[in-house]
Amino acid sequence: MNSATQDEVAAIVVAAGSGVRLGRELPKAAIEIAGVPMVTRAVQAMFAGGVDRVIVVAPEAWIEQFAAFFADYHERVTVIPGGLLRQDSVRLGLAHIQDANIVLVHDAARPLVPPFIVDRVIEAVRDGAPAVIPVVAQVDSLRRIRRNWTVAVDRSTFLRVQTPQGFEADGLRQAHSHVGDKEFTDDATMCEAIDIPVITVPGDSLAFKITEPMDLVLAEVIARGES
Ligand code: C5P
Repeated sequence: MNSATQDEVAAIVVAAGSGVRLGRELPKAAIEIAGVPMVTRAVQAMFAGGVDRVIVVAPEAWIEQFAAFFADYHERVTVIPGGLLRQDSVRLGLAHIQDANIVLVHDAARPLVPPFIVDRVIEAVRDGAPAVIPVVAQVDSLRRIRRNWTVAVDRSTFLRVQTPQGFEADGLRQAHSHVGDKEFTDDATMCEAIDIPVITVPGDSLAFKITEPMDLVLAEVIARGES
C-alpha cells in the first residue's frame, strides 16, 4: 500500500476531439447514445467506479453546452477548454487538479466503460502501481507494414490498450512536463518514456472506443439493452 490509500481520486475525461470520422456536426462526445450524451455516460461511469471529482475537457466552442450537461453535479465536475492534441487536453486538465494523489485519464469516446474497470484501475494505483492501463487481447491476425509489402506478426505478443488509465498524480505531471514536441497517443506511453513502469490490468470489451459510425450503432444497441 502506498500513501495514496485515503486520498482523493480525480479523473480527466478528455472530450475535446472533433469526431470527424463520425461525419457529424456535433463534437463526438456530445452525440447521444440512447438519449444520453457520450461524455455524460463517461463521467457517470467515473463516479460509479469510485472517482471523487472530474475535469471534463471540452471543445472550446462548446464549453457552455458541455457545462449544461453537468449542471446538477456542481463542484464535482469542472468543464474546461481543450487543446490541439489529446495530450494538450490532458495537460490542461491536470492544471485543474490540486489535491488528488490519484489521477485517471479517460476518453469520453469510451462511454460504456463498466464501473468495475474504473474501480480496478484505482485499486491498482492504490496498491502501489505508478501507472496502470486496462488491456484486452488482440483478436485479429496482425501484419507489419514494410515499405510495399506486409509481414505476419505473432498477435499473442500484442495487447490493445483502453482507458481509464490510472496514475500517481506526481508521476503523470512529470511525464507531461517532459513531453516536448513528441506526440503520444496515451498517457501511459508518456510515463514509460521517463521510465515510470506501466502495469496492466484486464480491460473489458465494453470499454471500446467509438470511432466509426458502426461503433455508434453498437453502443446504441448495448445501451438500450441495459436501460
Ligand atoms: O481521436 P481519438 O478518438 O483518439 O481521441 C481520444 C479522446 O481524446 C476522445 O475522447 C477525444 O475527445 C479526446 N481528444 C481531446 N483533445 C484533442 C483530441 C482528442 O480531448 N485535441
